[in-house]
This record gives sequence, structure tokens and C-alpha cells, in this order.
Amino acid sequence: MSDLSDNIPVNIGLLGLGVVGGGVAAALLEQPEDISAQTGRPVNLKKVLVRDAARPRDVQLPDGLITTNPEDILADPDISLVVEVIGGESPAAQYLQDALKAGKHVVTANKEVMAKRGPELLSLAQRHNVNLLYEASVGGGIPIIGCLVKELAANRFRSVRSIINGTTNYILTRMANDHTGFALALSEAQEQGYAEADPTNDIEGYDAVYKLSILAGLAFHRRVPPESIHREGITRLQPQDFRYAHELGYAIKSLAIATMEEGGIQARVYPALVPQDNMLAKVDGVYNAVEVEGSLCGRVLIHGRGAGRGPTTSAVVGDLIEIARNLGAGSTPLPSITPEDAGGIRSIDDLECQYFLRLNIADRPGVLAQIARILGEQNISIASVLQKDANPEAQTAEIVITTHPARELWVQKALELAANLEVVQEINSLLRIED
Ligand code: HSE
Repeated sequence: MSDLSDNIPVNIGLLGLGVVGGGVAAALLEQPEDISAQTGRPVNLKKVLVRDAARPRDVQLPDGLITTNPEDILADPDISLVVEVIGGESPAAQYLQDALKAGKHVVTANKEVMAKRGPELLSLAQRHNVNLLYEASVGGGIPIIGCLVKELAANRFRSVRSIINGTTNYILTRMANDHTGFALALSEAQEQGYAEADPTNDIEGYDAVYKLSILAGLAFHRRVPPESIHREGITRLQPQDFRYAHELGYAIKSLAIATMEEGGIQARVYPALVPQDNMLAKVDGVYNAVEVEGSLCGRVLIHGRGAGRGPTTSAVVGDLIEIARNLGAGSTPLPSITPEDAGGIRSIDDLECQYFLRLNIADRPGVLAQIARILGEQNISIASVLQKDANPEAQTAEIVITTHPARELWVQKALELAANLEVVQEINSLLRIED
């Protein structure tokens, strides 16, 4: 590790100059005094790794900063802090590993790497006596990781309930409030720099799964691997779902939830109905919110901008300042949690909650009775039934059924049986009601 005695500048190597990298570079170049006033030593952007040096960019860098060779950063003994904002697993994970092994402190915004390989990288950081901070990996500008690791560290947590993908929340808000089509809302989110390079990661729930894996690991001190989290995207939602949900007193939000149950941790990402008076129902646009329930603090909710250049830069530079402040004689590792492999992740089949079911059925006597019988046989009690949209020509109707709390396994079984009824045309939606 390079010499970090007092007042020697902290040289920074930045890996990536995209939406977030551009924001970090601009913050380091445009407000160096503000940053060094907080760190107590100069902070100097020494090298920036890009894939294509010729590409035009909206941030002006002094000559000589750009490189396309990662070794110019990873093998430079004068660079003591590496900031990774490339995203994706490869090659970012390898760069992080190389940086830590070379004794460099690391700040990353990479949720995929931290979800899949966080415990391994945190142990590596510990072994090399350096810090690995990743506040920007979850929730953009909202400081939820710092809260779990430090301010709320005295708690045992019962649950994490969150909206942690700005792109899907933006799309769902536009669809619910302005009746905007899915495709237009997605392209707006992309234009504003909220979406991932491949928006599949947002709309199919992978991005939220990575973030929930990180949060659940920190809350429960147990590894919750991304593949153990039940995942559903938002692409199958239709305008009718929003209309019926509204009529029943709910909003539709893509939620990422992890709960500590008696038999283990239950973790899931899916679009769900949330009562309109619940705080999460009021989180709109690109905003994120994370609500944790701790044994001492009770429920704490943090709300803020979850994606985009400014908020993510805020989290990255905050971590960078924290590390630079802590450097020098007698510096100690910053607080961190390395989740342990303990198993005990529960299947979605065990989930128990209320359900919202939307079906297209034949509009004739006795049809509802057949569906009610199937639900009853699976021990599912109906809470309400709505039938609004009938098609007299086709003699079909759309019904929406909400249930009392029921077990997921039985609901899936009932829908499988219902789908085989001659009178059921289509099962359009199965959404959980989370309150
Ligand atoms: N695509 C992500 C989102 C960006 O929409 O939340 C921040 O991780």
C-alpha cells in the first residue's frame, strides 16, 4: 500500500466514465476543496479507465487522465483508492479483486458483484487491511447501507421492505397516474439515465434482487444469494390491474421484501398491491424507499432518489470521503458486515399473504361457483369479488378476486386447477397484497 501519512494526497483511480463515472469525475475535479476540507488531505483524480478513449463525453478531463489499460490504475503504487463504476460482473469483479490484493481501498457502486461475491471480496479486503465500501450499490442517494452497518447496528432486524429500483418505480408511477404505455415510460426512464445498460435487469427484477440480496445480508448477517430470491418482473402488468387495484384502495409497486420468519428468511421481488395509505404506496417516480423493522428502533423508513447521476455520485463520493478521512497514521478499518453462509432460505411456496387474482371467464350461470369451489378446496377464503368488464358478444367477463391470507402453494395449485376449467379463458394476473 502507498504511503498515506498526513497531507500526502490520496490518489484516486476511477474505473468507468459512464453516467455515474462522469458524475464522480466532475465532483472530484470541480469541487476538490470541498472534498479535501472534509478529508483533511488533498484528493486527486489520477487516472480514469474507459473502454473507448475516442468517445465524446460530457465531462472535460485534463490531458493524460484517460487510459484504456486497467493496469495503469491497478498496478500504480501511488493510487491508494480505486472507485469502480463500470457495473456488471465481468470484468469489474476481477478489477475489484486485483485492487484489494494490491492493498488499495475500494469504493464500488456494483450491486451485481456485491450481491454475488460480496462476502468473498469483503474477506479479501479484511485480509489486506483495506476498506471496501459500497453505499451506492443500493438505493442511489439514500444512505441505507451506512444505517444498517453503523447507526442501526444495535438492532436485530425482522424485515426489510423496499422499493429499490428507480426505473420500475418510474414506469409504474407513469402507468398508474398518467395511463402512459409501458414502452414510452421505459424509454423516458432510459433517457434520464435511470435504467441499466440492459433494461431487462430493471424490468425483470434482477437489479432489485441484487440490491435485496445485499440489504438482507446486512440486516440478517446471513448470506441471501440472489438465486434464492423469488423474482417476478413488471412486464405482465396491464392497465386493468392498476384500475382494479385503485378501486380496491391499493397502489401497485414493485417491492423487494425480506423477512425473518421462524423457519428462515423469506425473500422476494415482485409487483404487489400496497394499501394506498401505506408509506410505500406514496413513493413515486424514480424515488426509492427502504423500511426496516428493528428490535430496538422499530420501523425506520428512508426515502430518496434511487437512481441517476447525482444521487449515485453522492453515495460514491460519500464513501470516498469516509475512506480518505480515515487514512493516515493509526487508521482503522471502517465498520463492515460480512454476511455468513447459514442456509435457511424459505421457498416462495411457504409465503402466506392475501392475493389479487384477475381472470377472464365465460359469462354464464354457475361459473363463479366453480371457481369458488376450487379455491375453497385449497383452503382459500375469498375476501371480495369484482365483475366489471363483460363482453356480451363473446359472452365473457373479467373478474377480480381478492383472498384472505392464504398459502402461496395452495393458491398456485388452485389457479392450475382453475386454468383447466372449460369456463376459464385466461388467468391474467396473480398479484400479492402486501400491507
Ligand atoms: N437501474 C437502477 C434503477 C439504477 O433504476 O434503480 C440504480 O441502481
